[in-house]
Order: sequence, then C-alpha cells, then structure tokens
Amino acid sequence: MEIASGAPVQTATGPVLEAFDLYRFFHTGDDETLALRGVSLTVAAGEIVVVVGASGSGKSTLLNCLAGLDEPDGGYVVLLGERLTRRPEAERASRRAAHVGVLLQAGNLFPSLTVAENVRLQMAMARVREPGRVDQLLEQVGLADRHGALPSQLSGGEAARAGLAVALAASPKLLLADEPTGEVDAATEAKLLAIFADRRKSGAATVIATHSPAVAALADRVVHLVDGRIVDGEAAHV
Ligand SMILES: Nc1ncnc2c1ncn2[C@@H]1O[C@H](COP(=O)(O)OP(=O)(O)OP(=O)(O)O)[C@@H](O)[C@H]1O
Ligand SMILES: [Mg+2]
Repeated sequence: MEIASGAPVQTATGPVLEAFDLYRFFHTGDDETLALRGVSLTVAAGEIVVVVGASGSGKSTLLNCLAGLDEPDGGYVVLLGERLTRRPEAERASRRAAHVGVLLQAGNLFPSLTVAENVRLQMAMARVREPGRVDQLLEQVGLADRHGALPSQLSGGEAARAGLAVALAASPKLLLADEPTGEVDAATEAKLLAIFADRRKSGAATVIATHSPAVAALADRVVHLVDGRIVDGEAAHV
C-alpha cells in the first residue's frame, strides 16, 4: 500500500473501485468517436453495479478502462485505494491478477486449452490451490459436462460462461463482466444471477455490462450510459 503524506489510508470499508472523470476517444481516419465523456463511478465492497446502454454507448470501453486493459485519455481509476491508471502494463497486470476477474465480450479463453485447463491456468496464475474448485466453478456456471471441450467447440453462451468461470477462479475482490448472460436460457441465467448475488456475502464487488433486464433487476445500482455519458433516471433510454 502507498501511504503518501496527507493521503487517505485505505481501510477495509473504502471503495473497491473508483473512476474519476474518464474520457476515451478513438480515431479512425478523420472520424473521432467520443466513447467515454466524463464517466465517474464508485463501487463499494459487496455492491453489484450494472451498466446498461444501447450498443455503442461505451459499456465495453468503460469496463476495459476500469480493468486497466485500456488507458483512458483523461481521468483515472483507483483500485483498492491505489491508482491503476498510467502505470506500466506489468504493474497493471499484476494488480489485475491479484484482485480483478475480467470477462470480456470475447477472447477470454486460450484456444488450445480445454475449458477446465483455462480455469486451472487462471488459478495457478493467482496461486490458488483448492482441490475441487474447477469442478465447482464449472458446475456453478452450468458447464459441468464441458470440462474437456476446446473453446472452438463451445457455443457463444457457453464460451461466455467458461470465461466467467475463469474470471471467478481466484475469487476476485472485483469482477468486471461484459455481457455474462448473453445467449443463455432463463434457467442458466438464474444460475449466473445466483453467483453474482453470492458475491455480496463475501464483500466482493461486481460490475456488469448487460442488455439483460433480469441482471439489471439484481443490481444495487444501475448506471445508464448514453453516448459515453452517465445519465439519470428518466433521461435514460436503453
Ligand atoms: N478500438 C476502437 N477503435 C475505434 N472505435 C472504437 C473502438 N472501440 C470502441 N469504439 C467505438 O466506441 C464506441 C463505444 O463502443 P463500446 O464497444 O464501448 O460500446 P458498447 O456499449 O460496449 O456496445 P455493445 O452493447 O454493442 O457491446 C462505439 O462507437 C465504438 O464503435
Ligand atoms: Mg460492449
């Protein structure tokens, strides 16, 4: 922990995640996309925050910045009391490995490893040794019978759930999940909702980008993004 003079000391009750005034611009040829325009967000321990918004509103861009996978052009992110933004990639990666589970919209799995091997690898990287945990995680996400499958053999919904098992492997203090329940049936979605609700009990924080009303209904707080900005209540059309 860094304790600079005058800086607040991180306590067990401090926020898990804070984002201050995030901006992210993309340039393609002469076009400029303002993907994030001043997004601020605080997520407390045990809280589930759901990010909703139309396609292209900036949900994935926000999650990537919160995970330290992408650097915002303005603003910064604080994870467990320490700034994550504008640090060398190796430092961001080690903080992520220790504290954050990330489920992206695609590309979460190593293609040459089976589902179980992908989960096991994540556990090894986080130095988690817990016999039976791989089976337990795959059961929780409804993939008990897909241990030995390669990512190329999974449907879109199965790949997302396998990615979720990987993201949860080290019981992270913060889970950032992009569309975890896309393409799943109602029974499977209920299983996933139970996983998210369970995280509250251990004080783990969860941020989910989704189009699913069922996931939004679980949230302690719903954040509406419109064109890269957070809008309140009635102004939100999603
Ligand atoms: N790497 C990139 N280069 C150029 N433009 C990008 C890039 N990533 C995102 N964008 C643009 O930024 C905007 C926000 O994209 P983003 O992927 O964050 O939306 P989203 O809310 O996650 O959408 P969806 O619901 O479809 O997943 C879009 O206009 C998108 O085209
Ligand atoms: Mg997205």
